[in-house]
Amino acid sequence: MKFRIVVLPGDGVGPEITQAAVDVLQAVGKKYGHTFDLYNGLIGGVAIDVTGMPLPLDVLTMSKKSDAVLLGAVGDPKFDAPDIKVRPEEGILGLRRKLGLFANLRPVRTLPMLINASNLKPEVVEGVDFIFVRELTGGLYFGRPKKRWQASGGWRAVDTMTYSEGEIERIVRVGFELARGRKKRLISVDKANVLECSRLWRQVATDLSQSYPDVELEHMLVDACSMRLIQNPKHFDVIVSENTFGDILTDEASMLAGSMGMLPSASLAGIPQEGARTPGLYEPAHGSAPRRAGQNLANPIATILSMAMMLRYSCGLDREAQAVETAVIDVLNEGSRTYDIMDEGQRQVGTREMGELVAGKV
Ligand code: IPM
Ligand code: MG
Repeated sequence: MKFRIVVLPGDGVGPEITQAAVDVLQAVGKKYGHTFDLYNGLIGGVAIDVTGMPLPLDVLTMSKKSDAVLLGAVGDPKFDAPDIKVRPEEGILGLRRKLGLFANLRPVRTLPMLINASNLKPEVVEGVDFIFVRELTGGLYFGRPKKRWQASGGWRAVDTMTYSEGEIERIVRVGFELARGRKKRLISVDKANVLECSRLWRQVATDLSQSYPDVELEHMLVDACSMRLIQNPKHFDVIVSENTFGDILTDEASMLAGSMGMLPSASLAGIPQEGARTPGLYEPAHGSAPRRAGQNLANPIATILSMAMMLRYSCGLDREAQAVETAVIDVLNEGSRTYDIMDEGQRQVGTREMGELVAGKV
């Protein structure tokens, strides 16, 4: 089969981790007889440098016409000043929003050979396996008004959290559907004791649970959830939350897998289906790690596993996705580690070598 894939390396370690994932993708193409036509584009800080815009129009157009987008990372400290006008992050936010990718899936799994990479006790993280469903195109990230202004008493700022019934229903539905295919337990995260948006969220989730009598729905307050994630992470099977809560909780959850460098993500415009060909955006959950950039250090596994999700959800290639996931596990079992998951008695490798090792095993 033939696929059009847009590759957006972005900033910091983005180009290195993306190249590693592309190496693995090409190996999959060769081995299983598929053609992946790759279209490179600019996004984030590099795009601002070259075009003045974090998401150039041609990149958006090209992405809309593709089967999937594979993205590295965006963000560059040189755009961090609070008064800067255009930010690299607007590139990724614009892409998510303009492609309608409201469902962000972040699977969290503690692999047996990486149990010691986590700061948590082995008995706490052993066997952790859940999927986080984060709403990605609403809430505080996009709500209007969003601005800063000079008021009589000094500067003021506002961000707006707003959700419609429809926005909540479609993302909670994704949670129910995924739970149906797993242990049939869905945890819906909110802050219903304080926020009106959360009270609506809880009501919509409860109403929708009528259509999923086979799935057990539990509501959990976001503060309690952040505690439970490290106290008893095995409690979780599928979690669904609004955008900002999901952003924060998934960084926390990545530590269960040992490193931010292990957490992949898929962003879709509908209910994920294995073997389907839904367009999507695939990126590691971590950032651009500017201090590690250009040193062949960064862990490319999150990006490689994101690419595997791309094969599964956007290319309809479940067998190939599994081959990539198994190859990652094999390479780790053989003792190769990037610096972030390095452990006594293992062999430290760079970004490039990790990519080549996985590519050699698909
Ligand atoms: C993530 C990132 C992004 C987000 C940033 C880079 C805008 O932290 O994907 O979790 O906040 O969504
Ligand atoms: Mg984040």
